[in-house]
Amino acid sequence: MVNKTLVNKTPLVVNSTAKELLDALVPLMQDLSRDLSDTERYRRLLQSLRALFPSDATALLRLDGDTLVPLAIDGLTSDTLGRRFRVAEHPRFAQLLAQSGPTRFAADSNLPDPYDGLVKGVSGDLEVHDCLGCPLFIGGRPWGLLTLDALDPARFDSVDMGALEAFLSLAAATVSVVERIDSLARTSEQEHERAEAYRQASAPSRREMIGASKQHKRLQDEIAIVAKSDLTVLVTGETGVGKELVASAIHALSPRAGKPLISVNCAALPDTLVESELFGHVRGAFSGASSDRRGKFELADGGTLFLDEVGELPLAVQAKLLRVLQNGQLQRIGSDGEHTVDVRLIAATNRDLAHEVREGRFRADFYHRLSVYPLVVPPLRERGRDVLLLAGYFLEENRRRLGLQSLRLAADAQTALLGYAWPGNVRELEHLIGRTALKALAAHRERPRILTLQAADFGLSDAAGQLISPPQTEPAPQAPSPAQQDFRGAVTSFERTLLLDALARHDQNWAAAARDLGMDRANLNRLARRLGLK
Ligand SMILES: Nc1ncnc2c1ncn2[C@@H]1O[C@H](COP(=O)(O)OP(=O)(O)OP(=O)(O)O)[C@@H](O)[C@H]1O
Ligand SMILES: [Mg+2]
Repeated sequence: MVNKTLVNKTPLVVNSTAKELLDALVPLMQDLSRDLSDTERYRRLLQSLRALFPSDATALLRLDGDTLVPLAIDGLTSDTLGRRFRVAEHPRFAQLLAQSGPTRFAADSNLPDPYDGLVKGVSGDLEVHDCLGCPLFIGGRPWGLLTLDALDPARFDSVDMGALEAFLSLAAATVSVVERIDSLARTSEQEHERAEAYRQASAPSRREMIGASKQHKRLQDEIAIVAKSDLTVLVTGETGVGKELVASAIHALSPRAGKPLISVNCAALPDTLVESELFGHVRGAFSGASSDRRGKFELADGGTLFLDEVGELPLAVQAKLLRVLQNGQLQRIGSDGEHTVDVRLIAATNRDLAHEVREGRFRADFYHRLSVYPLVVPPLRERGRDVLLLAGYFLEENRRRLGLQSLRLAADAQTALLGYAWPGNVRELEHLIGRTALKALAAHRERPRILTLQAADFGLSDAAGQLISPPQTEPAPQAPSPAQQDFRGAVTSFERTLLLDALARHDQNWAAAARDLGMDRANLNRLARRLGLK
């Protein structure tokens, strides 16, 4: 038989002076309007509780479903914070929660104490002690518990009920301030996430993919084909070739185009955040996780998730991603629940992932899962005259930005651009044109209406080492000897120079260039195609 005494049925023993009560409550009231962290607010609450009702241990626990989660403790061993008390397994807690006011357990109560062995500095079982607890209600619903324990079995004999009730009201106010702040923070974070998804989905009209070369058309065709499917695409290619643009083109042409395209730059995330960024977390999953957060996977539900720089993902995260990709089941960090997401995946990298796998830096199974449809974006130097089309596109952008009537390339500048190897690909071209236009404009004392960029303005001729290398020939069954390779390479590069020079002399007029070289037009076209210039 439980021998318990309800404190609110014991006669009031008034031993707290009004002054003591005020001293304890006033700082708490002041705290309500201060900008404090949850932890600090709760710590101060327990501090005041202990000042008002001297005890050996106090705790604030939040009821989370059928479990009590300690939020703050004082006088208990620190591992207590990690414990989760199932109410059904702790009859004392169950009794405390069943009352509307404070409950005090008799020293000889035979109910096991949930804090047995947890009071600091006391080893073994708690022998006799005084134990008092009060439920906290928010909006009429039980929110959690405040508990007080004393090793001296008579410590709480003299508890002043009026003071305790006053304290409880303030404790409830403190807790509800925290809840309200948290829920505001959560709402604002969700708003932010929604805005981000919206922004990504409705980003100002995607940049058009410029190009007319055979390689460009082949890429466009592949994009159109794969976009219709739900296959995972691995976009590879050198830096600056346009992998990101390809990913957004795939999404835009896919049946998911009306849903968000969510991008994650795997290289820009610290290891510790990758998981939470991708999968989300629940409140309290780790320090700093002050509210639930949806991961990119959830944000992309129904749409496309773009994992940029996927080669940079830590191995452990690759394993987790693989699991999600295999069964479509997602789990937020710190949560037991799984839910299903419908996400189409596109990944990009400029690393050679097969090589990374051989080096043990990338998981083979994850690599195979990603490269269901590999898409290679060719380097700019293999796209022939696309260089000039792209240059035109960027020139027009800069013309508009600089407020010029016309921004043009001189013939020698065109030759220089066509003859350069573009190690940084389209991005390098984009930046070079922006920089060169700005410098050339600054060199004029009076602002011209028409600005023509000369080869010298680009400063590419002195980067001799970076001039275009002979196009790669198809790998022969047997590798040619070095001598053969050099000869072929030299001839190709000589042909290219001759052709580009002739074109430059005749202002890119092909018929005139053919006449100049003593070739007929058809042969010149054939040569230009072989050299990747047409
Ligand atoms: N075909 C194209 N037409 C117009 N602009 C392009 C084209 N290809 C690339 N660009 C532009 O070139 C720049 C670089 O492209 P992007 O960022 O997609 O390259 P990337 O391959 O992802 O580079 P990195 O490997 O460095 O991440 C961007 O400003 C992009 O809009
Ligand atoms: Mg990129």
